[in-house]
Amino acid sequence: MLTSKEIRESFKEFFKSKEHLIVPSAPMVVKDDPTLMFTNAGMNQFKDIILGNRPAKSKRVADSQKCLRVSGKHNDLEEVGHDTYHHTMFEMLGNWSFGDYFKEEAISWAWEYLVDVLKLNPEILYATVFEGSAEDGLERDNEAAGYWEKYLPKDHIINGNKKDNFWEMGDTGPCGPCSEIHIDLRSAEERAQISGRDLVNHDHPQVIEIWNLVFMQFNRKADGSLEGLPAKVIDTGMGFERLCMALQGKRSNYDTDIFQPIIKKISELSGKNYGDDAQVDVAMRVIADHIRTISFSITDGQLPSNAKAGYVIRRILRRAVRYAYTFLGQKQAFMYKLIPTLIENMGDAYPELAQQQELVTKVMKEEEEAFLRTLETGIHMLDKIIATAKADGKEEISGVEAFTLYDTFGFPIDLTQLILRENSLTVNMAQFDEEMLKQKTRARNAAAVENSDWVNIAEGESKFVGYDLTECNTQILRYRQTKQKNQTLYQIVLAETPFYAESGGQVGDTGVLVCGDERIEVIDTKKENNLPIHITKKLPANPEATFSAEVNIAKRNACAANHSCTHLIDQALREVLGTHVEQKGSLVTPEGIRFDFSHFQKLTNEEIIKVEKAVNARIRANIPLTEYREIPIGEARELGAIALFGEKYGDKVRVIKFDNSVEFCGGTHVAATGQI
Ligand code: ALA
Repeated sequence: MLTSKEIRESFKEFFKSKEHLIVPSAPMVVKDDPTLMFTNAGMNQFKDIILGNRPAKSKRVADSQKCLRVSGKHNDLEEVGHDTYHHTMFEMLGNWSFGDYFKEEAISWAWEYLVDVLKLNPEILYATVFEGSAEDGLERDNEAAGYWEKYLPKDHIINGNKKDNFWEMGDTGPCGPCSEIHIDLRSAEERAQISGRDLVNHDHPQVIEIWNLVFMQFNRKADGSLEGLPAKVIDTGMGFERLCMALQGKRSNYDTDIFQPIIKKISELSGKNYGDDAQVDVAMRVIADHIRTISFSITDGQLPSNAKAGYVIRRILRRAVRYAYTFLGQKQAFMYKLIPTLIENMGDAYPELAQQQELVTKVMKEEEEAFLRTLETGIHMLDKIIATAKADGKEEISGVEAFTLYDTFGFPIDLTQLILRENSLTVNMAQFDEEMLKQKTRARNAAAVENSDWVNIAEGESKFVGYDLTECNTQILRYRQTKQKNQTLYQIVLAETPFYAESGGQVGDTGVLVCGDERIEVIDTKKENNLPIHITKKLPANPEATFSAEVNIAKRNACAANHSCTHLIDQALREVLGTHVEQKGSLVTPEGIRFDFSHFQKLTNEEIIKVEKAVNARIRANIPLTEYREIPIGEARELGAIALFGEKYGDKVRVIKFDNSVEFCGGTHVAATGQI
């Protein structure tokens, strides 16, 4: 039997033999994309290539990508644990063609890999093809169906609708029909009784999708219409855990060698057996799944917190704690004890786990303990609500009260229901749902962004010249309107720009675009899929004119000073506390700095003073900046550069050096530390 590790390697070997460049997984936590908190598909790290914002270094690429589907368009969270094949974190094996091969090769290689290399039985495989859509004026994908007919009998090729067989990256942007490969893992007897064909896409736990081949050939515009994409793209994603289940002859992802060691450890710690009780099994699967998500989020730079991505991770951790509390009787922190098993199991493929073991353990244990205290508080409050309800002779408690418990105290509704049931009470779920809907609508209205299509003025790529200049003459390449919270703004892309776009913690430049008497204020500069975007409140009278783009120099200089300072702080922290210290994020504004880093305890006053002194000494030493632009990653590593959160695929990097502080960095800096 192939182990999961062998399966992962064989995928990469296969596509290497088809001349694909094998690249590392991007971090699971996304830091520089406003539309995404976590990597939710293998293609995320290639979005800018697919959109044409960056040329592809290689037209054929393959990898195994850590993914998380817990928020936004693709969200599997509620299913996780209750079935045997959904996960929060999973690995996606994928291969890509950027304007190179298309449907024929994608299909024939998928087949060759599954059937010739992995020896899966072709009789249990099915392929779905897009049936067409009148609304979009699209016909059935007969081309893909034709290629499948070379390998599969016609009754194993199934039409699928737009929901299942048309993949879209978001509301707008590249999209296209897709073909999914499904596998029927039931016994021969079961297969003889009901054909797998009738169970494809019907949520049967043994008849499941394993591989999605997306044929991106359209661009979805803001008005919903489609236009052809100049360079067609193949984007595939195969569920690694499901593939392992198929190859290891299991009926559940959780029975593979990916999850079993963790489940065994949970059994050992809780004294309960997997397989004895349905609710206990769900709890064990929830924990086995969530422990991976939480651990990898922490190693990839996202600690649990009260906002945004950090809050998503906190909620996942709380979900696991709650299942452990209710169904495994764990009233004390317990999940952190599973970390050594996880490392034993996945540490080879993902060395960051072992490297950051102490941090992950400490963070997890503290979070567990904090939430267990919240649970106690919630239970206490609920006891009072129950007593009042009983005294008043009621059989139901109000949904508003249950929602307050949920929303303010993080007390899960199903736990409220469970406790109420034990007291022969119920909760008014209609009221609860209404409160939930109100909250969701508030959040959606606050977050909804409406973008118009881009208006193209000139052809060309946008070039950043801001490391050398703070002012230059330039032209608008394209612009669009964007509406959020009733405010209308414009996003402008320039041919050359001296404006630094927010990234790596440093806020974006502000300034003006000047043309004759007209001055258009740039209120912020951001990156979207690697494209620098200048945000303005109005459009120039003549967008085709030549502009002088002028950065606010005082703000830029203050940011540069603060950014250089974060490098000195990083270095001083490593010197004073040890090289285990890792930067976990930062905020660099003209007013100040926030520097997030990992360490096992609060700094003492003496340590803080030592760090301050080390930084101040380097400022006084007036160390000159040495900047390396566009150097190969290997060369940067030889210089001893410290990378943040792992690097994305892309072989040229910039390195900033102040004496022996050496960091990968795209930010702007002072010419010598004395300027700080
Ligand atoms: N991007 C495609 C998916 O996530 C392959 O299914």
